[in-house]
Amino acid sequence: MTQSLTLRRPDDWHLHLRDGAMLRAVLPETTRHFARAIIMPNLVPPVVTGADAAAYRDRILAALPEGADFTPLMTLYLTEDTDPDDLAAAHASGLITAVKLYPAGATTNSASGVQDFDRVRPVLERMAEIGCPLCVHGEVVDADIDIFDREAVFIDRVLDPIRRATPGLRVVMEHITTKNGVDYVKANDRDLGATITTHHLIINRNHILVGGIKPHYYCLPVAKREEHRLALRAAATSGDARFFLGTDSAPHTDPNKESACGCAGCFTATNTMALLAHVFEEESALDKLEGFASLNGPGFYGLPVNDATITLTRGDAVTFPDKIETEDGPVTVFDPGVPVHWHVA
Ligand code: DOR
Ligand code: ZN
Repeated sequence: MTQSLTLRRPDDWHLHLRDGAMLRAVLPETTRHFARAIIMPNLVPPVVTGADAAAYRDRILAALPEGADFTPLMTLYLTEDTDPDDLAAAHASGLITAVKLYPAGATTNSASGVQDFDRVRPVLERMAEIGCPLCVHGEVVDADIDIFDREAVFIDRVLDPIRRATPGLRVVMEHITTKNGVDYVKANDRDLGATITTHHLIINRNHILVGGIKPHYYCLPVAKREEHRLALRAAATSGDARFFLGTDSAPHTDPNKESACGCAGCFTATNTMALLAHVFEEESALDKLEGFASLNGPGFYGLPVNDATITLTRGDAVTFPDKIETEDGPVTVFDPGVPVHWHVA
C-alpha cells in the first residue's frame, strides 16, 4: 500500500474567496496547499470590469498570510452589458485569466448573470478571438425544468449551441455533476475542459436527504444520483487531461446554511487534498492524482505547472477542524462522513 505521495503543488481552478472578514478567514485555508486559484467573481456587487478585478485582486493580495506563495487568477463576471474592449484589455494585460458565465438566478449572487444568451454573443466572439476562456455555470433555470435535470438540459439547449456558434471559444464546464457532463466533454476533443469538485466525488443526493436534511451538503449544482457520482469518479481518476480540480469551495456562515432557506455551497478548502487522496486511493488511481490536481489545469489554461511540491502521507485517521471561525460567524468544514488517513505534510 502506498504510504507517501509527492505531487507538484496543486492549483484550484474554481474557488470562492468572498471579501472582507470572510476573505481574511478562508484565504489561509487555500494558500496552505494551493499555489494558484481561479477566483470566482460573484461578489455583491459582482466583479464586472477590469477595474473591479484589479481592486479585488489587491484586496486578496493584502489579505495573504505572511510568507504565502499564492497567485489569485482573476475572472470577470459576464453580464449582458459587459464591454468587450474592457474585457480584452484586462485579458491582454494578464489581469484576468477567464470570464465566468452565470445564467441569471442559477445560484448564489447570480442576479446580474445572463438571461438572453444572444446579447452576449459579441463578447463571446471577442473572447474566442483573443483566446480568453469562458468558465460556465452550466444549469438552466427554467421553472419547468427539474433541478436534477438542469445540467443535462443546459448542455443541449445552451452550451452546445453556443459552442457551435462560436468556433474557437475555449470553455470550462465548471463543477460538472452528471454523466451527461462527462460524456459531453469526452465527445469534444477541442477547446473544452471540465472542473470537478471534491465533494461531488464523495456525496450523492442521498447524502443530502436521507435520515434528515444535511444543509452542509447542499450546493449548486446539487449532487445527483449515484450513477453520476460514479461517472465523475471515473472521469477524475482516468488520467484524461480534460478533467481537473476546481473545488468550488464556497463558504457560508452556519446560520446562513442552517436555515429555512439555506445557502448553497460546500466549504472544502481545508481538507480537499486529503479527501482527494482518499478518493483516488479507493479508485486505485493514486498515480492519477497529480494529473487531476496539479497538471491538467495548467495544461488547459496554457500556464506552467508549479515547481514546488507537497507530500501526502498515509497514517492514522486525520482529525479535521469541524469549523473555522470568522468574524462573520463559524463556517463548517465539509465532512466526508468516513475516516480519512491522508495527511498533507
Ligand atoms: O454551491 C454553490 N455555491 N454553487 C455556486 O455556484 C455558487 C457558490 C457560492 O457562491 O456560494
Ligand atoms: Zn462556484
